Amino acid sequence: ALRAYLYADPAAHSLSPAMHRAAFAHAGLRGEYEAVRVPPEGLRDALERLRQPGVLGANLSLPHKEAALPDLDALTPGARAIGAVNTVIHRDGRLTGENTDAPGLLAALRDANAPAQSHVVVLGAGGAARAAVYVAREHLGRDVSVVNRTRARAEELAAAWTTPGPQVRAADPSEVPWDEVSLIVNASSAGLSNPEQTPLPDFDFPRLSTHALVYDMVYKPRETRLMAEARRAGLRAENGLGMLAHQARLAFAAWTGADVPVGVFLEALEARA
Ligand code: ATR
Repeated sequence: ALRAYLYADPAAHSLSPAMHRAAFAHAGLRGEYEAVRVPPEGLRDALERLRQPGVLGANLSLPHKEAALPDLDALTPGARAIGAVNTVIHRDGRLTGENTDAPGLLAALRDANAPAQSHVVVLGAGGAARAAVYVAREHLGRDVSVVNRTRARAEELAAAWTTPGPQVRAADPSEVPWDEVSLIVNASSAGLSNPEQTPLPDFDFPRLSTHALVYDMVYKPRETRLMAEARRAGLRAENGLGMLAHQARLAFAAWTGADVPVGVFLEALEARA
């Protein structure tokens, strides 16, 4: 049988096994997908084990997405630009690091009919935010304001985009050109652990046009406070399930070549909800 893994710490509550097992079944492939708890000090050995015959590769999650880079043989341009790998592809003993979070987000935004002709606001400044900025700038070709609790991290993220093209700026909510914004992507982990007590950023929702979309990468709960706030202001809002499903679809396609529809992954997520 073919094998693929998730390496994460913790790994127990991952939704990835359900998605990839459904994909193997749909594609008619005999395959196994297992979530393995890999502590930081075990990552290098765990990656070495991917070089065995029959192993397709692995997904990486917290805390390995950035740490894995030096141990891989090659990176795709997206993974290199974002500085984070969520999918390792094994072929003939070689390991390539790919980032399917970014194209996964792009596909989810397209499914949600996200307006692309506008300034984009990204909330957060970690690896997930870099994937969102990559999508906004490189795929959608839009200027980006990066809003983050710690402004210095937003400045650092913005400064890393040095190639000619749309602008990436760190901004406080008061500095965002709200009249030009029709897409906000939440890539911050704020509120994941303590939703009730985390203040929402001071976004000027009333100044956004009504076709604007708030895309929250969070999917638990399905309706976040940020989404509820956006809807109250008459905006559209989506949770991160679509991105989760699409990043898995793209990883599965990279491993197997099988083009399994995103609905298979979404159904597996629903079944686990
Ligand atoms: P990831 O790689 O998943 O993006 P990360 O690098 O830990 O994770 O980044 C988490 C992001 O969530 C950061 O932007 C962080 O803000 P800081 O840079 O100020 O730490 C943001 N974040 C986490 N908890 C937060 C909170 N309680 N309020 C506001 N922002 C928070």
